[in-house]
Amino acid sequence: MADLKVLFATSEVAPLIKTGGLADVSGALPVALRAIGVDVRILVPGYNQVIAKLAHYQVVATFDNLPGFPSARLLSSTMAHDVPLLVLDCPSLYQREGGPYQNALGHDWSDNAKRFGLLSKVAALLGCSDSPLDWRPDIVHCNDWQTGLTPAYLHFAPGGVPSIIAIHNIAFQGIFPPTMVQELNLPPASFSVEGVEYYGNMSFLKAGLFYADHITTVSPHYAKEIQQDDLGFGMQGLLASRRDSLTGILNGIDTDEWDPTSDKHLVQTYSSHNMSGKAANKEALQRRMGLTVASEVPVLGVVSRLTHQKGLDLLLEIAPILTEFPVQLAILGKGDPQIQKTARDLWRLYPGKIGAVIGFSEELSHLIEAGSDIFVMPSRFEPCGLNQMYSQRYGTPPIVHATGGLVDSVVDCTPETLTDGTASGFSFSGMSDENLYFAIRRAVNLYYDKKQWQTLRKNCMAKDFSWNNSAEAYRAVYRKVLRD
Ligand code: ADP
Ligand code: GLC
Repeated sequence: MADLKVLFATSEVAPLIKTGGLADVSGALPVALRAIGVDVRILVPGYNQVIAKLAHYQVVATFDNLPGFPSARLLSSTMAHDVPLLVLDCPSLYQREGGPYQNALGHDWSDNAKRFGLLSKVAALLGCSDSPLDWRPDIVHCNDWQTGLTPAYLHFAPGGVPSIIAIHNIAFQGIFPPTMVQELNLPPASFSVEGVEYYGNMSFLKAGLFYADHITTVSPHYAKEIQQDDLGFGMQGLLASRRDSLTGILNGIDTDEWDPTSDKHLVQTYSSHNMSGKAANKEALQRRMGLTVASEVPVLGVVSRLTHQKGLDLLLEIAPILTEFPVQLAILGKGDPQIQKTARDLWRLYPGKIGAVIGFSEELSHLIEAGSDIFVMPSRFEPCGLNQMYSQRYGTPPIVHATGGLVDSVVDCTPETLTDGTASGFSFSGMSDENLYFAIRRAVNLYYDKKQWQTLRKNCMAKDFSWNNSAEAYRAVYRKVLRD
């Protein structure tokens, strides 16, 4: 069988542009798919940050007459590991100061429907018989709401290939007024419950979930949760009705980028056989975050978007109590102004015990994974989560709320799981400050039992979080879609 050809349409891809885990996945999954013989090409918008990093490119298509959209060009380039990259260059929509979704003040760009409508439209066009490219995918792999209209456009286009949509976070749904249906040049008939309509508005995500041939999401546990009222965010009915076309595939991690034996962001590399470098990173982290340098005091690390989803408000609430026993907090995050303010206030109130850096720093995020003793991730919901996997690989057992991908990737430490070698962190059920507090107490108590702590760390570091298995699972989904 000829190589399977896949267009991977995404709104962010590391290391070109990243706000969260979607970028990590978009950077790493195509590499793993290509390694097993799938011909994947990535399509991403030409934001400033992306264009600035292109060392070379060729213009391979121009779009001057897409109804409802400004003129655009398609640039062809490559990423690391020779992954082909297509950049959708449309300066009036993408080249501006700010993030991919929001301006510098943290407000959504007012023309996001147009911006991601164009991305969706072009992804679909490349999968149609009137594509301007010779290379035509067998399937288009969409990601989240920003490419949610692709399956709808493909459905109504001549010779449209099948599509899948991967849900990375169902809380973001791309909801816009019904007038956008016409402005985005979708057929009026698509504005229906059996289509893009969603409680009187239109939703990019709903469109994807309705029209895609298959739906994936980023962990098996989350695939079940989103079919239920609590975590379906309104899409549970549609997802339950499509459950035979819904597959949860746990994300992997980029094991080259996140490798304590070679990580260039660390002051000293280390491995499970020789952990001495971890202590050096701990000391560097303590200095960097203004914490008292003390090797015996456990450091709890956090790297996160500071949003309601991540549950860090609970950690900050109990932080004053935590400072009463010997622990330190090292927090890196950016997001909700109120959570940022609380973190900064705590940093001022508890010098030497709480360190907070408000911002986005790739380098510091690596140092926190390596230099902390325990990682904290009390997410209210978590489709997959990557940091808990990074932290295990760095011998930093995570404390997690038992939800979504955290259930699939962290095994709670009990006398039994410690003995059978599966324990890899601490998980608590029931989202409350009290439950988080007791999980932290459990972790800190074990930390002082040097022998058991070493066993736990070794278990963590022995786990295989590489993309290999997940890439096979995606290929199986592509094949199923093409067969059915
Ligand atoms: P989400 O995508 O919901 O934010 P994930 O755990 O899947 O959560 O992925 C988050 C990614 O973004 C990780 O690679 C993490 O290290 C990174 N990240 C989040 N916040 C920051 C930050 N303030 N600085 C650096 N990296 C961050
Ligand atoms: C989303 C989710 C996160 C997941 C990531 C990559 O941002 O919030 O849990 O790991 O996408 O799939």
